[in-house]
Amino acid sequence: MMTYTDKILEVRDLHLHFKTYSGNVQAIRGVNFDLHKGETLAIVGESGSGKSVTTKAITRLLTQNAMILRGSINYKGQDLLDLTEKQMSKIRGNEISLIFQDPLSALDPVMKIGKQITETLRIKKGMSRAQAKAKALELMRSVDIPEPEKRFNEYPFQFSGGMRQRIVIAIALSCEPELLICDEPMTALDVTIQSQILDLIKAKQQEKDLSVIFITHDLGVVANVADRVCVMYAGKIVEVGTVEDVFYRPKHPYTWSLLSSMPSLESEKGDEL
Ligand SMILES: Nc1ncnc2c1ncn2[C@@H]1O[C@H](COP(=O)(O)OP(=O)(O)OP(=O)(O)O)[C@@H](O)[C@H]1O
Ligand SMILES: [Mg+2]
Repeated sequence: MMTYTDKILEVRDLHLHFKTYSGNVQAIRGVNFDLHKGETLAIVGESGSGKSVTTKAITRLLTQNAMILRGSINYKGQDLLDLTEKQMSKIRGNEISLIFQDPLSALDPVMKIGKQITETLRIKKGMSRAQAKAKALELMRSVDIPEPEKRFNEYPFQFSGGMRQRIVIAIALSCEPELLICDEPMTALDVTIQSQILDLIKAKQQEKDLSVIFITHDLGVVANVADRVCVMYAGKIVEVGTVEDVFYRPKHPYTWSLLSSMPSLESEKGDEL
């Protein structure tokens, strides 16, 4: 097994609740985990267990009614919870990139694809129009978009779902992040496209020593991409370990029931582990 030395992220004792009309919802109740440089950490757990909220806390993209009660999110030696919104927006989409649960809605339907990529580069990297265009074409090529020069001037509806998703990944990678957070980036895609997207993320990761947090319901995908797995249940991480440990030597009763409720593991067992 690979061993990692440099810690890039350290989440400690994170507690968070949402204020709602019917009272406070304790969404995160003491989350702790580490992420190392170049590592892929998968987060699994039932719907509502707090996976998305955890990643939104890291990127500080929480809704107004969210309140962080205590804890720290140490990213390369600084607590992200101490940063101002201005400092945080420099890190977000620059050092830390996100691909959200509903990735297709991440694209603006009435803006040409090329402009959507170059805009990020111009705002986040301060590139000139010509530099941004050259970089955008290079990115489109790197995610296997055929005929990028022609595609540059097309709108999202002219792209297939898989291609749009690759564009979203290209945008997420355009700023050369150190940490990529993927929150179920593939639920809307068919299996073949899913595996292409996974291969793409893995290739980029090897090339750039990227750290990845990958949220998914698909344990086959976990087996395929993750170095370690966190299992979330009711706002806590109840188990963390290597794929082998968590899948074959689960300690927590919740992990047993999660594994037995997920049929995809059986079919992946032979070839992935
Ligand atoms: N804006 C909000 N206001 C109130 N409660 C919220 C808000 N966002 C999330 N929650 C609550 O926080 C808890 C965790 O939600 P979260 O979205 O993190 O779940 P999840 O693990 O990502 O689930 P899924 O697998 O369905 O995406 C849930 O109980 C949810 O109802
Ligand atoms: Mg979610």
